[in-house]
Amino acid sequence: MELLDGKSLASTLTQELADRVAALPGARRPKVAFVRVGEDPASVSYVRKKERTAAEVGIESELHVFPDDIAKDDLFAEVDRLNADPTVDGILIQSPLPGHIPDEEAFDRVDPSKDVDGFHKVNLGKLVQEDPTGFVACTPRGILTLLDRYGIAIPGKRVVVVGRSLIVGKPLALLFLRRQQLGNATVTVCHSRTPDLGEVTRQADILVAAVGQPRMIDASMVRPGAVVVDVGINRVPDASKKSGHALVGDVDFDSVQPLSGPITPVPGGVGPLTVAMLMENTLQAYQLHEGVHPA
Ligand code: GUN
Repeated sequence: MELLDGKSLASTLTQELADRVAALPGARRPKVAFVRVGEDPASVSYVRKKERTAAEVGIESELHVFPDDIAKDDLFAEVDRLNADPTVDGILIQSPLPGHIPDEEAFDRVDPSKDVDGFHKVNLGKLVQEDPTGFVACTPRGILTLLDRYGIAIPGKRVVVVGRSLIVGKPLALLFLRRQQLGNATVTVCHSRTPDLGEVTRQADILVAAVGQPRMIDASMVRPGAVVVDVGINRVPDASKKSGHALVGDVDFDSVQPLSGPITPVPGGVGPLTVAMLMENTLQAYQLHEGVHPA
């Protein structure tokens, strides 16, 4: 079935953003600060990708790396410094953080006007209230953009989201519920404690898998013709790869793809869109700080 090519869409979006950034009046450029704690290989690779994309778009970036035994108060003092820096529009604290620093506490330390991840309580509250001035989390925003650009209508559809994380499942479910053109869906959220998961997922017109379990959604769990969005990026051992690992999604692509409707691959599906949306959110933060109305 049709492949939802997130990689190619992300490159279109990146070009569109580059044009908008180039057209900004004034000398000051948008800037995003990345905060990484420790050397988790996945986090290192994600942040490097974000830096590269920022450069392509014409957004400045700075990377702040701290050892994984940094004291919470010391990390938060660094975040406070970035909050107070008028040249910094957006701050992204790469999660997961080491166990002694709860992710949510760190997300809430970021000034809500610089919260380009959309994870601060204020921005999550704005999402619940359907207040459009907030920042929306990048992966959920990328998924809606993907469906929109591929002409897949959402209103009236039965959407099933598997996964209830703060980063994807919960904000995505709230977006699908909004009373607007990219919302008005009938939304079911399921998770690791849902009995007979397949019975629920087979109801979906649009099925989103965001659980972090390699190839968990198989063909028996998907209604023929359903749109399938795979958010999982799981590293599994693969001796045939130079790196020793392969990336696979939460969906068993080979069994699902022959029967599903449009489906995202992994890699090259949702991942690149997340990064593009981070740039969109940084531009939104810049416009907020400069007092310019969004285009
Ligand atoms: N870890 C996994 N996804 C994300 C994300 O979108 N933002 C941040 N900050 N950390 C993540």
